[in-house]
Amino acid sequence: MANDAVASSPPRFVAPAQTGETDDPVRDVLAAFTNDLVTAVDETLAAFLATEVEALAEIDAAMGGFAETARDCALAPGKRVRPTFAYWGWRGVVGVDAPLPSVLPALAALELLHTFALVHDDVMDASDTRRGRPTAHRAAAARHRSAGHTGDPERYGEAVAVLIGDLCLVWADRLMAHAAVPPARLLDVRRCYDQMRVETVAGQFLDVLGEHDAANWSVDRALRVARYKTAGYTVQRPLLFGAALAGAEADTPLIAAYTRYGLAVGEAFQLRDDLLGVYGDPATTGKPAGDDLRTGKPTVLLMLARQLATPAQRRALERAGTVTGAGEVARLADLVRDTGAAARVERMIAERVTEAQVALDGAPIEGTARTALTGLATAATTRRA
Ligand code: IPE
Ligand code: IPE
Ligand code: MG
Ligand code: MG
Repeated sequence: MANDAVASSPPRFVAPAQTGETDDPVRDVLAAFTNDLVTAVDETLAAFLATEVEALAEIDAAMGGFAETARDCALAPGKRVRPTFAYWGWRGVVGVDAPLPSVLPALAALELLHTFALVHDDVMDASDTRRGRPTAHRAAAARHRSAGHTGDPERYGEAVAVLIGDLCLVWADRLMAHAAVPPARLLDVRRCYDQMRVETVAGQFLDVLGEHDAANWSVDRALRVARYKTAGYTVQRPLLFGAALAGAEADTPLIAAYTRYGLAVGEAFQLRDDLLGVYGDPATTGKPAGDDLRTGKPTVLLMLARQLATPAQRRALERAGTVTGAGEVARLADLVRDTGAAARVERMIAERVTEAQVALDGAPIEGTARTALTGLATAATTRRA
């Protein structure tokens, strides 16, 4: 099993709490609000999950361990990106004085939805590590072995992980119902949430298809995957979800600005992920490096490399999807860089950050939230984890 990643500290895409003010207002705003938000989301999740785990443990002696594993997947240190964008989407409408508790369960629910997506994604991608720990299916397989159960440990692990993901999806819905927002508004929130889930499934399907149909893939199609698998799910829809929680009207300049900003930052987030997937440090990302090259996943980065490659480089690139050893993966990563594709992806990220800033200019977004979104456009796209 390759790439035993160990993340040393929780990844934060906003630097840990600053002491006092700095001469950078964007950083001050992010430090003053976002880290408290992450703590509040984690506390909300922990309290909700404690009750859920307790109830499941009463069903059978074996259930407690299963429910605790699901809880641990959700509480494992992640960046909490989706609750963060939903929070600022909400604050952008209601301002900084509105009390958070009424909407906090809905923000935290996005993290449970994310846990579902990650756990299933890791089964689909046969990944070994997530957030610096063994993935849910690998951990369950290991427990199968140590308990001396019968049958195939890997198959058991995958079955358990499917169920953990399902449970997190239901937990997300249940936690969302704890939000104290008027029922009519909740309908709009649900509409946005459902759209986000449908689009994520579409993006994930196309992502899987791409790995099995590389001959019919293109940079455009890879960008479409990034848009659905990540941009909508990670930035655009969470922002709109926050706006819906605040009761924002549809078809307004605010919604247009969130949509434009969200797609730009979201795509850039995925483009950064493509680069981290090849050149990132597993100890920081918590995920294996080189998996995309090992599987030949037609990311924007790899599609661009194919497009820019000389004939000899293109022949060597065809080895993506067949390489296994760390040395071979590293050589392929160098080759992708040599084609100029990595530099091109960096430029695409920068263009999208600029596009996001243009979207914010003049949009009717509350001032502090606008400052935060300005900072998050950079933080989310220059991250190392
Ligand atoms: C991983 O999401 C999946 C992508 C869409 C790139 P994150 O990068 O937000 O993962 P965590 O939540 O911090 O672990
Ligand atoms: C992302 O997971 C999948 C989603 C949460 C939608 P990864 O971080 O493993 O990224 P992929 O699998 O390479 O897209
Ligand atoms: Mg995947
Ligand atoms: Mg994956």
